Order: sequence, then C-alpha cells, then structure tokens
Amino acid sequence: MKILGIETSCDETAICILHASEKNDRVTILGNALYSQIAKHKEFGGVFPMLAKREHTKNLVPILEQAMREAGMISPPSLKKASAGEEILKILERENDLGTDLLKFAEKIERPDIDAIAVTHGPGLEPALWVGVSFAKALSALWNIPVYPTNHMEGHILVASLSPFPSLIKEGCHSEDGVVEKLSYEIKEIKYPAIALLISGGHTQLVLVKSSLDYEIVGNTRDDAVGEAGDKVARLLGLPYPGGPEIARYAEAWIQGGKKNERFKFPRPMIHSPDLDFSFSGLKTAVLYTVQKIPEMTEEIKQEIAFAFKEAVVDVLVSKTRMALEKYGAQTLIVGGGVIADKVIREALRQLAQEKQVDFCLPEISASTDNALMIALAGYINLKNGQNAETEFKANGNLSL
Ligand code: KG4
Ligand code: ZN
Repeated sequence: MKILGIETSCDETAICILHASEKNDRVTILGNALYSQIAKHKEFGGVFPMLAKREHTKNLVPILEQAMREAGMISPPSLKKASAGEEILKILERENDLGTDLLKFAEKIERPDIDAIAVTHGPGLEPALWVGVSFAKALSALWNIPVYPTNHMEGHILVASLSPFPSLIKEGCHSEDGVVEKLSYEIKEIKYPAIALLISGGHTQLVLVKSSLDYEIVGNTRDDAVGEAGDKVARLLGLPYPGGPEIARYAEAWIQGGKKNERFKFPRPMIHSPDLDFSFSGLKTAVLYTVQKIPEMTEEIKQEIAFAFKEAVVDVLVSKTRMALEKYGAQTLIVGGGVIADKVIREALRQLAQEKQVDFCLPEISASTDNALMIALAGYINLKNGQNAETEFKANGNLSL
C-alpha cells in the first residue's frame, strides 16, 4: 500500500510518499520532499509560530507536487472531474491561499494512487500543526483517501527501527524519466521491553516501550528540553539558530585544537536523583553566569564553553538512560529526535548500548531531525495494527504518547 505522510509540527514542511509491502515489512521511499524554514526563523533567533504557519501554507502545495513528481504520480487528468472546490475552500478557510493553491494544482492532475494519509496532529506548535491537519483533510475530501492522525514523537521512535535495505532496488516506479531507483528499508524486529530516549527541541523523555506501540513515559524534563537548552546556550554565545549544530561545531573545533576543558565545569543537573527525570534550565543558567563573567568573549572561549556544555549534557543523558535500561531490564535502546543528529551524542549512546549489551536502534541523520518519512511510517504501522481512520480530529500541541 502507499501512504502519504505530512509533517508541519514546527519549522519543516515535509511530505513523504511511502510504499509498504505488507508481506515482508519492507518500505520504499517513492517521493520525499522537505522545505526547511530555518533561514526564515534565524533572524528571530528561534521559531515564530505564526511565521511557521504562514510558511507551511505557502509551501505545502509545492512540496506535495515535488514528492508526487519524484514518486512518478503526476499525470494529466483523464476526464473532467466533479469538483469538490467549495468543500476544499471551506476546510482550508483559515490557511490563507492554501485552498486555492491546492485546487489549482489538483485540476491539472489525475488522482494519485495513494491508499492512506498520515498527518502529524501533535505535539508541536498548534498554528503550524493545524495547517497540516487541515491540508490532510482537504486532500482526503479531494481524492477520497482515509486520514490517520499520527503522533510526532511516535514517529521519532518508529523511524529508528528502519535499517537500509542492502541495495537500492527498482521498485517499478515509473516517472517521466522511466523507472527510477528508490531507497528501501527493512522494519527491524524490536526486542521488548525497550527504552526510547527522545531528545528534541521540545522534548527530553525516556519512554518504556513494553511491546509494539505500547508506551509509558518513565522520565521527563522538569523544565527545558535538551535541544531548547542548546539553542539558548548558542544564543548566549552569539551563535545562530538552530543552536544544536553550532554548539556541536564549536565543541568539535575545541577538540580538534587538541585542547582539554580546564577552566569550565558545568553542573550535571539531577544526575544523582533516583528518578529518571531531567532538568536543563540550571545548566543553561550556569552557562549564562559564566558568560557574564567573561570580560572579552573570543572564538576560543566559545569553543571551550560549547565543549564543556556538551560534556555535561552527554553525561546526564547517558547516565539517566543507563538507569532506565537497568531498571526495566530493557533489551533494546531506541533513540530519536533532532538532537540525536549530533555525532558525539550518537556515539555516546551507541557505546552505552554496547556496554549494556542491548540492541541499538538509531535513525539515519537525515531521519533524526523532523521529516515526513517518520510520519508516513508511523501511520502505516498504526493502521496495520488496527487504527481507524478519522475525520473530525484536531491539532493538539500538547499531545502525549
Ligand atoms: O526533532 P526536531 O527536529 O524538532 C522538534 O521536534 O523539536 O529537533 C530540533 C532540535 C533543535 O533544538 C536543534 O538545535 C537540534 O534538534 N538539532 C541538533 C542537530 N540538529 C538539530 N542538535 C545537535 N546536533 C545537531 N546536528
Ligand atoms: Zn521532532
């Protein structure tokens, strides 16, 4: 079956068309398009919800067209169709010109061969989420395709179970250029219980996965998420948004310079607490006080602070994840969320999995930050497990697992 995934929870507008072969749990990316709004938000030093919403409304149709073109799903209409125009405009009445853009696009093409739509309905920025949710409903009305509301954090967990299929295969996907090669993945069998560590801009969570799709949050941040703390520390150092990759770059430069952290030692908040919770705002404040005491900031000091900050973050993440693996006798460690794109953090957690002799599920770097592959995949796995399609659901910024 073919699933179209839509992701608009934050500052990426993304659509992925996934082919899932039910026989052997293999999925193939037919089309995958993503527009990152980072450059637009950079000047504000963070994500502005209403700007994110506006950008999603502008970019969803071009991104849909790009994904469909890649999937070889753009062909001229064979016969004049009954128009669902008014209904579409009503569904998208709050999304600027998105309704008229979609109708203009749909007029030129044949209904694509898609069986299901999966859309992120939370958690995330509510105005941004609503654009994706309404767009999914409009596509559903237009092409008569069922919609499956999907949890963004579950997408981050499930995408870690994909392992690249040994070779690029020809999936018989015809485009204007003939048959094109597509990336295939196997959905790995997970050994349960598993512990998932989710680290992103909005979340720092330890999740006990008791069996397939059965989640219990066993650890959470009491204040800032780790990605958020990194973004704020970057800002204190005068580095642009998003801060995570910048901090990583500066810390790496410090290591490359052969320097050892001597001057700065930041706290490891809650590292010795018996629970599995996190707190990162104290760490961020410690960096603030340090920065305030420095009479003249240099690139070298920034590198050293970035390094010391990251050391503290890695220590806390590894220590709490180790506790969770031990407490629940986990057989698998799953990691996900934008911060897992960081190479040092990936390695530290890989080593932890080795030390505890558990399976390790790590998403590819491109699937770590927000994307629509994870949403299409989560939609597929849930519908295969009996989730019903919905029509009346809402966006929910605080949706939990
Ligand atoms: O999952 P994600 O893309 O969006 C949310 O759902 O929040 O995560 C975004 C977070 C941001 O805080 C960003 O600074 C961080 O992930 N991030 C990184 C890297 N790429 C993104 N942190 C460290 N290293 C990276 N390469
Ligand atoms: Zn995310």
